[in-house]
Amino acid sequence: MTESLQGKVAVVTGGSRGIGRAIAHALLAEGARVAICGRDAAALDQAASELSADGGDVIGKVCNVGRWEEVEAFFAFVADRFGGVDVLVNNAGLGHFAPVDEITVEQWREVIDTNLSGVFYCVKAATPSMKARGGGFILNIGSLAGKNPFANGAAYNASKFGLVGFTEASMIDLRFDGIRVSEIMPGSVQTDFRPGGSEGADWKLDPAEIAAMAVHLIKTPRRNLASLVEMRPSMPPKR
Ligand SMILES: NC(=O)c1ccc[n+]([C@@H]2O[C@H](COP(=O)([O-])OP(=O)(O)OC[C@H]3O[C@@H](n4cnc5c(N)ncnc54)[C@H](OP(=O)(O)O)[C@@H]3O)[C@@H](O)[C@H]2O)c1
Repeated sequence: MTESLQGKVAVVTGGSRGIGRAIAHALLAEGARVAICGRDAAALDQAASELSADGGDVIGKVCNVGRWEEVEAFFAFVADRFGGVDVLVNNAGLGHFAPVDEITVEQWREVIDTNLSGVFYCVKAATPSMKARGGGFILNIGSLAGKNPFANGAAYNASKFGLVGFTEASMIDLRFDGIRVSEIMPGSVQTDFRPGGSEGADWKLDPAEIAAMAVHLIKTPRRNLASLVEMRPSMPPKR
């Protein structure tokens, strides 16, 4: 028997576009109430109003996940509006790509603060509510860059390799509270994560495909947990 998402409260960080938006859309289709965040207020408002067009219950609040105070305020807002959290999708992420000796300290901090510390902050903010509600599901969106280093990827690789360790350790810590922790590690996805990334690349994964996997994982019966899922385009360009 799969778990129902009807009426559950789901938080999706970085829900204003790309993979996060597709996941928010898919969770709404399952009957969840969804809270999204991002840094750009106009993009967030537009996404929230478009996502609610089919009658879904969506709220949005500006929050940079790399700042603990903003994360605390975001989860207080969700608690106030929806009463707590059942599902947390840590999707917000960004990259700066340059040789390691050219990455600036600011770029390094932004990548690690968002992709790694931001996940910790959201887990820290969400788990008290999940425990009080008898359990929950935390899904982290990592990357195949979390196992495959590449040139110019030092900051991004470090953040996503770190996320695998964080995910697996958290999974062990939280399992007996009924909180399941899992990670999807996608390969290339058609989004604007990199300029032009959503154009002319039919071989790339569609954000909706990541969203379908996310829903599948979250709905999996409580007794089992697919804790690390690699998703890759089946036919990338031959090198
Ligand atoms: N696209 C790919 O090929 C690919 C492959 C593997 C993994 N991923 C991972 O998938 C996740 C989503 O990527 P995407 O391709 O959907 O990227 P995207 O299209 O650039 O969307 C990123 C989302 O995250 C938000 N965001 C970025 N930094 C944030 C911060 N500090 N605080 C709050 N929100 C923030 C963005 O909104 P604002 O800019 O308004 O903040 C936006 O909503 C990331 O973790 C990425 O590393 C992507």
